[in-house]
Amino acid sequence: MTTGVPATYRDEALAITARNVRFDWAGVPVQYIPGDAYATQFWNVMHLVLPEGERAMADVFARALPLVDDPRLHEEVVGFVGQEATHAGAHESFRRYLQAHDVDVAAHVSRIEYIVGQVFGDHGLTGRAGRFWLRERLGLYAAAEHFTAVVGEWLLDNEPFDRRGVDPTMLDLLRWHGAEELEHRNVAYDAFQYVDGSYARRVRTAFVAFAGLATLWFSTTARLYRDDPGRTRRWWPLAYLGSARTSMIPSLTFLAKQIPPYLHPRFHPSSMGDIGKAVRYLAQSPAARAAQS
Ligand SMILES: [Fe+2]
Ligand SMILES: [Fe+2]
Repeated sequence: MTTGVPATYRDEALAITARNVRFDWAGVPVQYIPGDAYATQFWNVMHLVLPEGERAMADVFARALPLVDDPRLHEEVVGFVGQEATHAGAHESFRRYLQAHDVDVAAHVSRIEYIVGQVFGDHGLTGRAGRFWLRERLGLYAAAEHFTAVVGEWLLDNEPFDRRGVDPTMLDLLRWHGAEELEHRNVAYDAFQYVDGSYARRVRTAFVAFAGLATLWFSTTARLYRDDPGRTRRWWPLAYLGSARTSMIPSLTFLAKQIPPYLHPRFHPSSMGDIGKAVRYLAQSPAARAAQS
């Protein structure tokens, strides 16, 4: 069943644990990126779409736990499942805040519920078919986690947010989430490699995950932007380019550059980015510090 654990993950000394964070949204503007409706809607996708996706992912990895005999990886997967469930809860709390401010989220939530429940749900499969489908979904989520880790690091690095005056509570949510994505960047990949490890499956599921994520993210942002009373009259692709030019969202070039490394046969997430940034941010994040005390 197992194909072994990559040596690289053993070198990461951090324990992955969920932090019981809370965010107080009182007084946070609905357009929390001043003067940029498109970028605000781009990040709103995290509040509207990610909670269901993260819970579905946590469920798939929890199902894979009995297949992970390695005690260190087992413990990391447990921590990863806990962190993703916490992310879902934190974003959902802002989703409720948006609803209280008359933002209609129902259509977006039903769409993601359909995708994770009807398309990527477990369909009651058992035996050989159940094992195949579990491996496929581990591959899909491992690829998605590659993107959440690189975008997480982008969020930590992105100083233009501070200069623009993005609401500090929202910035802490985005960066706390980004830091934990960077912190647990190895886990989904290592679990996929341990349970399956097929290179063909890694590549195949990566293409599906990258195309699916891009379609979901850009189409949801476009709809949210269309319905935003604070929007400008710019067509959304031009609004995207404008927001990317001012670094309120990642550019297409940045996103496209993240794909080839994942497809390399010897890829491992520990080769990407600087995990020290996550550790440093989590040590000073107001929400993470409050959770600790
Ligand atoms: Fe997450
Ligand atoms: Fe994650």
